[in-house]
Amino acid sequence: MKGSALAHPNIALIKYWGRRDETLRLPLNASFSFTLDRLYTRCEATVSPWAKQDRTRSDVRLLAAERLRVTRFLDQVRAEAKRAERLSVVVESNVPKSTGIASSASFFAALSAAALRAYQVPDGERRTAILARLGSGSATRSVPGGFVLWPTGDHLTSYGRTLFPPTALPLLDACIPIRKAKRVSSSRGQREVFTSFFIQARLRNARRRLSLMLAACERGDAFGVLQLAEEEALEFMALMLSQTPPLFYATRRTLLLLIKAQQLRRRGLAVFFSVDAGPSVHWLTVRSQLGRLRPHLPKEAIICRPGGGVTRERGAAASSMGSHPDGIPP
Ligand code: PMV
Repeated sequence: MKGSALAHPNIALIKYWGRRDETLRLPLNASFSFTLDRLYTRCEATVSPWAKQDRTRSDVRLLAAERLRVTRFLDQVRAEAKRAERLSVVVESNVPKSTGIASSASFFAALSAAALRAYQVPDGERRTAILARLGSGSATRSVPGGFVLWPTGDHLTSYGRTLFPPTALPLLDACIPIRKAKRVSSSRGQREVFTSFFIQARLRNARRRLSLMLAACERGDAFGVLQLAEEEALEFMALMLSQTPPLFYATRRTLLLLIKAQQLRRRGLAVFFSVDAGPSVHWLTVRSQLGRLRPHLPKEAIICRPGGGVTRERGAAASSMGSHPDGIPP
């Protein structure tokens, strides 16, 4: 019995940082994101009735701790599926690793769907998104497609759901991967958020900014959405800096790219930035600005549009990497 699935990472416009339940990975605040169409992780899971352990084969080397995290996650899938057999998992991905571009989100979203299929459990979107959250919180936002809200709630109500289709806003995310090994994992960083002196103000702000952003989405105000996303990224960096010990993932290049986006904006380009728990930079813009932005983009930038959710088609990876109709190169 085999199951395969493909999922895209997502960029959070309103960030999730901090949990009120560690085991169930229930977030302190609601978050909002869109999936990135040209990046993907594909998992193929096969039931191995005689194996004593789960096996994961991947084109990137997995650390022992990562293997343990996968096995723990698959134990949770087995509990849901009421099955005991181990799985053999093959992973293929084009998401740059150790760059802070959410590779774990696409991985756990694809793995949830692939494992449920391998165990022949009905893999509805809700069930897959709840399971994915147990692997990596933000993975729940990679199960449905387009613009996704992950509300707070309990185990059965806190999961990612589509609020707007991918075509709702003409946004682009130019992901600029910057590699640097993480000294502090985001899991540990999230546990330490309670040491921040402004956590309560942050949670109030996140709620307020989310409602402003949803209103901007409703009225199709892409510029308003991007402005709020940059404010959110700056507050997120400040929150991490205010923790004990302080978390600072930026490199010199990260900071230069943030400043460059602001300089380009002063010259009339609608480009805004975001960051996650890592050194990489996301330049966010609208489709009509791409021509003017292109000469300023670093050559390693991967330009993504809002994408779909988990899919089981093998061909989806290839088409995700194809040229965009509006001339975005593969
Ligand atoms: O999904 P986790 O537990 O690895 O947390 C990642 C959270 C951020 O990517 C930093 C922000 C977000 O909302 O995606």
